[in-house]
Amino acid sequence: MRKVPVSYLVPGMRLARPVLGTKGEVYLNAGVTLSRRYIERLGEIGFPAVYVEDNLLNGVEIRDVISEKTRRDAITQVRRILTAPSSPKARVLNADLALATMAESIVTELLKNPLSVVNLVDIRAEGAYLYHHSVNVCILAVLTGINFGLHKEQLLDLALGALLHDVGKIKVNPDILNKPGALTAEEFEHVKQHCAYGRDILKEHRVASMIAYAHHERYNGEGYPLGLKEREIGFQPQLVGIADVYDALTSDRCYRKAVLPHEALEMIAGAGNWWFDVKLVHNFLRCVAAYPTGTLVEVSSGEIGIVLDTPQSFTFFPNVRVLLNANGEKVLPYHLSTVENNLWVSRVLGEEEAEVVRKMLDHHGS
Ligand SMILES: [Fe+2]
Repeated sequence: MRKVPVSYLVPGMRLARPVLGTKGEVYLNAGVTLSRRYIERLGEIGFPAVYVEDNLLNGVEIRDVISEKTRRDAITQVRRILTAPSSPKARVLNADLALATMAESIVTELLKNPLSVVNLVDIRAEGAYLYHHSVNVCILAVLTGINFGLHKEQLLDLALGALLHDVGKIKVNPDILNKPGALTAEEFEHVKQHCAYGRDILKEHRVASMIAYAHHERYNGEGYPLGLKEREIGFQPQLVGIADVYDALTSDRCYRKAVLPHEALEMIAGAGNWWFDVKLVHNFLRCVAAYPTGTLVEVSSGEIGIVLDTPQSFTFFPNVRVLLNANGEKVLPYHLSTVENNLWVSRVLGEEEAEVVRKMLDHHGS
């Protein structure tokens, strides 16, 4: 399975993961063979990429850290709150029980596999960005929280707050929120208000309210709304802040393309004790693969291969199935641990170069 931009899809490729629509519903299911019409529709709806099956990864299973049903249900619940026609506060309180149940399901599933490493970049249509983003931020923040040693009650509060961290955006002008360009200073001031709106909407929930208010604060005092520093911020809003920055960077938006996971993680790593407490950054890095399974990479030895998996705590050091030797010649595939062989990933192959390698290996498409 590999992630392919919609513009690179070819009829005949088979979907490896379901494509979820704006309401969290299954738009196209895994196993569907893509026709030209499907590919056009995916482009029209605004999906930047999809996951397709990949022969180079035969025998390798890529699992999401939570079940597909839980992810879908969570998206539906978050969407329900962010679009219900009643007043914002009533929306949250009415949906409280359903959302708390959702938060519990996510925490319970993640606690079952505390060594999970996130290997998937969530793909979403532009119109559904906020709902998918909220669920992904929740997953990333809770996984980091587990690694940081939080107990279940703390994780439940964290999960609920993470799911609703941007709830204040329902009171922000949608034209400004979705503006496909740089915001004016005045518009940015308006968007910043979502923190205070969120705090007020969630005031019955102490931790969730604090997360909504402080998730844009930064360790060095450069954040907003208050410019809090270091321990003044609290670890829950910071955990959500890291997850929020990472997920936003790795998502395609109407105004910029996604950054690759390893680039986003390098930025997060560089933000230790600058934007975020380094201990939280350290734990975040343990939970996310810099080179997700299916990425074609060149290793420092010159060998080229496909990433199979990543050991926890060695985010930047994947296990690779080598396909081409250092001279660029096809070899019988073999397993290479970059950690054990003192190697590192020197680069990720671009989409076009990856296609050349695939053709060479006679494994084009799926
Ligand atoms: Fe926010």
